[in-house]
Amino acid sequence: MKKSYAVLGISLTAIVAMGLLAGSINGKEEERKAINQSPVVKENGVEARNEEWARYFPREYDSWKMTEKSDKIDDLLKAKPQLVILWAGYGFAKDYNAPRGHFYSVQDVTNTLRTGAPVSPVTGPQPTACWSCKSPDVARVITEKGEKEFFTGKWARLGSEIVNPIGCADCHDSKTAALTLSRPYLTRGLEAMGVQAANVSHQDMRSLVCAQCHSEYYFKMTKETGADGQEKITNTVTFPWKNGFKGEDIEAYYDGIEFSDFTNTLSKTPIIKAQHPDYELFTTGIHARRGLSCADCHMPYQQEGAVKYTNHTIGSPLDNVANTCLTCHQETEAEFKKTVAMKLERKEELQKVAMDTLAKAHLEAAKAWESGASPDEMKAALQDIRHGQWRWDYSIATHGSFFHAPEETLRLLASANQLGQEARIKIAAVLAKHGVVGYEAPDFSTKEKALALIKLDLAKDIAAKQQFRSGLAKEWEKEAIEKGLLNPASRQGMSNKTSYSDK
Ligand code: HEC
Ligand code: HEC
Ligand code: HEC
Ligand code: HEC
Repeated sequence: MKKSYAVLGISLTAIVAMGLLAGSINGKEEERKAINQSPVVKENGVEARNEEWARYFPREYDSWKMTEKSDKIDDLLKAKPQLVILWAGYGFAKDYNAPRGHFYSVQDVTNTLRTGAPVSPVTGPQPTACWSCKSPDVARVITEKGEKEFFTGKWARLGSEIVNPIGCADCHDSKTAALTLSRPYLTRGLEAMGVQAANVSHQDMRSLVCAQCHSEYYFKMTKETGADGQEKITNTVTFPWKNGFKGEDIEAYYDGIEFSDFTNTLSKTPIIKAQHPDYELFTTGIHARRGLSCADCHMPYQQEGAVKYTNHTIGSPLDNVANTCLTCHQETEAEFKKTVAMKLERKEELQKVAMDTLAKAHLEAAKAWESGASPDEMKAALQDIRHGQWRWDYSIATHGSFFHAPEETLRLLASANQLGQEARIKIAAVLAKHGVVGYEAPDFSTKEKALALIKLDLAKDIAAKQQFRSGLAKEWEKEAIEKGLLNPASRQGMSNKTSYSDK
């Protein structure tokens, strides 16, 4: 197997070059011509309605629309109740599901209990920044009104503006249809690392369009007084990339600015919540080192008669092994699925160990506070929990890391577990000092038990959310249709599932 990879590595450049050549000779030429003849979707500005693109690019549209098929809700708090303990005091402890198809991005951010139940444009727990990676309307609003205006105020303020799910204008220029970076914060993130977006290769662009959203970020807050004397709060999506992509590099960045997303209510640890560093982790793996881009596996070329086009059904490459993995590798489909499954199993095993350790550390720290521990006594242990939890989250909040970068993922999980254990030893000493010996953390083996431990009753949140969904959310939809921003047909027949109800 080793030998075949070596040969493969050497010949890969040639294969890719030949593939590109064949592609351009083939029917792809026709599609290229279509682009060269420039069917202009929109002369000025951003066309966020995906249906408007369908007219010129039916194959890309139809395959994009198929992301609608990936609509299963996988409640991860149920599958991994430790998460509730780790995120005590943060919205993620209320609702957290595995990712679904891009088609559901707007529905999911609207339905999640994390965005609360606003009743007006100025209420609710989240800032506008929560829309950032959900819709081409974000590119439209930033282009029309400026980035600062987009990032000011509450999430609910833009409810009737951000209405189309992730689509064409997130990745393509509305006039030329060329790949484009529609999010200025990615361009700034790259600049912080000394990379000029204007100079990146076409192959890099086939990953960077994804990196606009599939990356680690935080909300950088600024306050200023507007001309009207009102205080304006801006939360700008910012990539913490200045020191590099390693988990420890980003940890140092956050420590340097004393950043935390929330304070865990059990242990009182200031926690950094990892987002989805898919791009960062991917770059540490073998496929990135061999020059692959995200699109090579998640958007394979597809032949249809004489036409070769890019399949836009972004999902699991394993649904299409013949067109993804097997263009380079020679194993059978069954062998490949087994290899990937084995990598997942290894990650799951170590992830569980790390989560159990960190959850116990939080609960034991809570006991120490209860027993009269002082902030000074707890300081070192809480720093270990902070770093351990960050490394765990950074390695797995990206759901594909077990495959994209298996060694780095397992390394970070081992480090997370070690830091969690060190915290527990320190906490045991503090507990002993306050007369508590042999304390055992309570049972958190189900979502219900874990929710009870953090004293979170979801009933009220769910009731308010249901009212929001049948009230304000419906008004947003109506307004968007009236403003001509949303084609009502685009949501017809769409399922509407959540972790807390199917209605
Ligand atoms: C997540 C990013 C993304 C989204 C969303 C997206 N595309 Fe693409 N698209 C790509 C990438 C990557 C390629 C491959 C470009 C290349 O290598 O030249 C591509 C290629 C294309 C091409 C060139 C011809 C081909 O098939 O290779 C067209 C036309 C196109 N997309 C249209 C669309 C339309 C229409 C939509 C919306 C229905 C859409 N795209 C949505 C990323 C995206
Ligand atoms: C505008 C932001 C954005 C862009 C650009 C984007 N994604 Fe996504 N992606 C998301 C969000 C948000 C979700 C989760 C959607 C949900 O669960 O509602 C997601 C989900 C996914 C999933 C899970 C799909 C499933 O059915 O389980 C994959 C795989 C994925 N994206 C890969 C990519 C790749 C590869 C690219 C680039 C070609 C890309 N994404 C570009 C935001 C984006
Ligand atoms: C060499 C092929 C390959 C490349 C290149 C690749 N991926 Fe993946 N990706 C996979 C495989 C395989 C999985 C696991 C799929 C599964 O478990 O069904 C995956 C999983 C994912 C998932 C999780 C999907 C889910 O529903 O859990 C996301 C998101 C994702 N990839 C995004 C990306 C992004 C973004 C890039 C580029 C930065 C990228 N991938 C590059 C093969 C690839
Ligand atoms: C464009 C070519 C290409 C595609 C597509 C591709 N690979 Fe690879 N793959 C490579 C190369 C090159 C290597 C590295 C060989 C080396 O240098 O050892 C590699 C290495 C691997 C390895 C061994 C390294 C490790 O992480 O264990 C596995 C397993 C693997 N690929 C699985 C997959 C799967 C599964 C897919 C489809 C989702 C896929 N590959 C798609 C080119 C590709």
